[in-house]
Amino acid sequence: MALYSEMVMDHFLHPRNVGVIEDADGVGEVGNAVCGDIMKIYLKIRDNVVTDVKFETFGCGSAIASSSMATELIKGKPLDDVLKLTNQAVVQALDGLPAHKLHCSVLAEEAIQAAVKDYCDKNGLPYNGGR
Ligand code: FES
Repeated sequence: MALYSEMVMDHFLHPRNVGVIEDADGVGEVGNAVCGDIMKIYLKIRDNVVTDVKFETFGCGSAIASSSMATELIKGKPLDDVLKLTNQAVVQALDGLPAHKLHCSVLAEEAIQAAVKDYCDKNGLPYNGGR
């Protein structure tokens, strides 16, 4: 069996939503101290809905695939749904990741949460972490 699913390879080779939103409403940046990979998420939010999202990931293929899939999963979604996005949902949508690569999907969850928190902080809104 191949180490990576076709879905992972597709999102790694053709990542969706790569880039920067200059006037983003929320920005989240997280890193993994062990592998050194960094992920940054930019959100555009209107009426509590994610109208646009972009990412920059300096990291491994699984991190790039996870960010690409995570951005696809939250695009056009209300913030309540975005806050509930877990790394397991990202892994499931990618048709799985090898066990030693699960932490790459955690970065995507954390970066999105950090971006939503940034938006809430800037707008004086409560942030409950979706849990
Ligand atoms: Fe660390 Fe993938 S190896 S994010």
